[in-house]
Amino acid sequence: MPGWTRAHFRRLFPWEADRYAAHLKALTPQGRRWRFCGCLGDDALGAHAARAIETCHVEGCFLDGRLIGAFELFVDPLPLGHAQVALSVDPAHHHDGLGSELLARATSRASLMGAPEIDLQIQEDNAAMIGQARRAGAAMSRDGVDVGAALAVPPADPRRLSLALLQDEASLLQGMFALVSGVVRRAVARTMDDRWRLGARRWPARGGMSPSATGEGQ
Ligand SMILES: CC(C)(COP(=O)(O)OP(=O)(O)OC[C@H]1O[C@@H](n2cnc3c(N)ncnc32)[C@H](O)[C@@H]1OP(=O)(O)O)[C@@H](O)C(=O)NCCC(=O)NCCS
Repeated sequence: MPGWTRAHFRRLFPWEADRYAAHLKALTPQGRRWRFCGCLGDDALGAHAARAIETCHVEGCFLDGRLIGAFELFVDPLPLGHAQVALSVDPAHHHDGLGSELLARATSRASLMGAPEIDLQIQEDNAAMIGQARRAGAAMSRDGVDVGAALAVPPADPRRLSLALLQDEASLLQGMFALVSGVVRRAVARTMDDRWRLGARRWPARGGMSPSATGEGQ
C-alpha cells in the first residue's frame, strides 16, 4: 500500500505560502519546468505560491507533517465555470498513485464550484502527466507546442456540499493548529537558547552545547 494512504489532505491558507513554496522548490529542475511550462527561479516560486493560495483553491497532501503533493484549482468567474488545474508530487512519491488522487480531488472540488470541465496544459514531453490525464479520461488536443487535456466534471451532488464545508472547516482548524504549534516551538527553542546563553555567561567553565544545537526544543 503506498505510504501516502496514511496522509491527510487539506486546503492551504495564506500563512502557509512558505510551506507550499518549499514543496514546489523541491521538485526536480525537470519537474519544475513541467509544472510551470518553463523555468522559474526560487523567488518567482515564492511569489507564485503566495498568489496561488490567495486566488485559487490549493489543496495539499501531508504525510508525517510534510507537504508531499498539492493541486491548484482555479475557477474563472468569466466565463463562469472555466477551470484550470495543475498538480505537483514530491519526487520521492512519484508513481504511487498520488497524482491520480490529487486529480480526482480537484475534479470533485471543481464539480462543487460549478465547473463543467477542467483544463490542464501539459508540456509535450511530460509523459507522466499526459499518461495520467489519459487514464482519467481527458480529451487530449494539440495546443501549440503543448498538449491540452480537457477533463469532464460530473454535475455537483448537493449531498457532498455539506461534507465539503465540514472538510473546509477542518482544514482551517488544522492550518491554524499548525501555525500556532510552529510559533510555540520557535518560542520554546528561543527561550532554551536564551537560558543556555545566560547559564554559559554565569558558569563559563561548564561549557556544553546549546539546547537548540543538540536538537532539544525543535
Ligand atoms: C505528473 C505528476 C503529478 C504525476 O504524479 P504521480 O503521483 O507520479 O502519478 P501517478 O502515480 O498517480 O500516476 C498515474 C498515471 O500516470 C501515468 N504515469 C505516471 N508516471 C508516468 C511516466 N513516468 N510515464 C508515463 N506515464 C506515467 C500512468 O498512467 C500512471 O498510471 P499507472 O500507475 O497505472 O501506470 C508528477 O510526476 C509530478 O509532480 N511531476 C512534476 C510536475 C508536473 O509535471 N505537473 C503537471 C503539470 S500540469
